Amino acid sequence: MDLPDYYEFCCRVKIVAGHNALEKIPVLLADKGSKKPLIITDKGVVGAGLIDIVSRVLQDRLAGTLIADNVPPDSDIRIVHQLAQLYRDSGCDAIVAVGGGSVMDTAKGVNIVVSENASDLMAFSGAGALKRPLKPLIAIPTTAGTGSEVTQVAVIKDHEKHLKMAFLSYFLLPDVSVLDPRMTMTMPPFVTAMTGMDALSHAMEAYYCLQKNPLSDAHALSAVNMIYRYLPIVADNPLDPNGRLAMSVGACLAGIAFSNSMTGIVHNLGHASGSVCGVPHGQAMAILLPYGLEYNMHKCEDTIVRLLLPMAGEAVYHDTVKEQRPQKVVSLIRQLNEDLHKMTDGRHARCFGELKDREQKPTVPREALPRIARAALLDGASMYNPEDTDYDDNLMVLEAAWEGHPLDRSKVKKG
Ligand SMILES: NC(=O)c1ccc[n+]([C@@H]2O[C@H](COP(=O)([O-])OP(=O)(O)OC[C@H]3O[C@@H](n4cnc5c(N)ncnc54)[C@H](O)[C@@H]3O)[C@@H](O)[C@H]2O)c1
Ligand SMILES: [Fe+2]
Repeated sequence: MDLPDYYEFCCRVKIVAGHNALEKIPVLLADKGSKKPLIITDKGVVGAGLIDIVSRVLQDRLAGTLIADNVPPDSDIRIVHQLAQLYRDSGCDAIVAVGGGSVMDTAKGVNIVVSENASDLMAFSGAGALKRPLKPLIAIPTTAGTGSEVTQVAVIKDHEKHLKMAFLSYFLLPDVSVLDPRMTMTMPPFVTAMTGMDALSHAMEAYYCLQKNPLSDAHALSAVNMIYRYLPIVADNPLDPNGRLAMSVGACLAGIAFSNSMTGIVHNLGHASGSVCGVPHGQAMAILLPYGLEYNMHKCEDTIVRLLLPMAGEAVYHDTVKEQRPQKVVSLIRQLNEDLHKMTDGRHARCFGELKDREQKPTVPREALPRIARAALLDGASMYNPEDTDYDDNLMVLEAAWEGHPLDRSKVKKG
């Protein structure tokens, strides 16, 4: 294996994981000297009864605790500013994020604004704009997906401009993440499926992207093993506590991996389909992951083949003819999407063409594909993809992913 000449790896998040992990929250807040935390969450999380569980744990600390539950899907710059104002006006001293990626990323955005005493979050977009530690942030993920609880990344949408903005800094790493299966058991199967596929896409993209290194690889391979094994188990049996904890740990491992090695074309096109058409992030990841593997195959076949072992185990690896092993990785992902489609009564989509919104209108009209292909050119994730991307290739991948056909790899422009 070629080792990189130089690399950096950082994950300084304290991780508290287990079936009673939530009970640690009062001590964790006390460790940070917090008497008045702001809990940031969303209405889905509240409706699932999860804030009630957290509130019971907080007991006598609850008197000083504020709860804000107005985070929208994909976060929102305006809400970040509103919540920052609430934090300041109420004299809060820490943030507790209870939710999926939308909530955790909102909390990171609020933390930037209040810590920097800023009036415009956008002044801190991109990489490296933060220069000093932020206020205490405890992340309690309620999906096993984004890994935001251990990443240096926040993705926040400007709903007016249809843009998803990325923020990147080691100072965005939460201080603590609390992984407790009681927080994810209430996820409906289709949310379990798409968020789990987001986690799998983090692990796989982390493993093939350009900034990979031995430390991110170790986390990525371990994540692939746990997520590929447990995702169908929890999609089928949402109340399996061990499966839920394993998925939370798998998503966390995948988050640590990609926060260090970054992601590629799957996230690049996924962010663009989210900003142009509102495709939920995990659903875009599930659809695009097999195409990311196919698109990059000629550049890193030897790397992709190593994903087969943690997915399928030694017996399948050795029983598969050597030349067919890379393609086996892709076909197992397609089969997983197929299985999740069945387990969710068809709500987990296998291609963009079958995605429908609440009114049963197409979420991604075919004529929107050129706009998505163009929007992807503005997204930084393409920088880390093994093969160069351009407008034509983006469109070619999107068209195949719209139809649900395998990619015609002979047409990939090889850079
Ligand atoms: N910061 C990062 O490193 C990073 C990485 C990947 C994705 N993201 C971002 O994260 C966002 C997506 O986050 P997500 O996939 O976790 O989804 P989400 O936070 O948008 O939640 C999806 C839905 O599930 C509901 N929900 C969440 N947990 C639940 C539970 N336990 N029970 C019942 N309902 C529950 C929510 O209320 C919401 O309606 C996107 O904006 C994406 O860009 C961030
Ligand atoms: Fe993701």
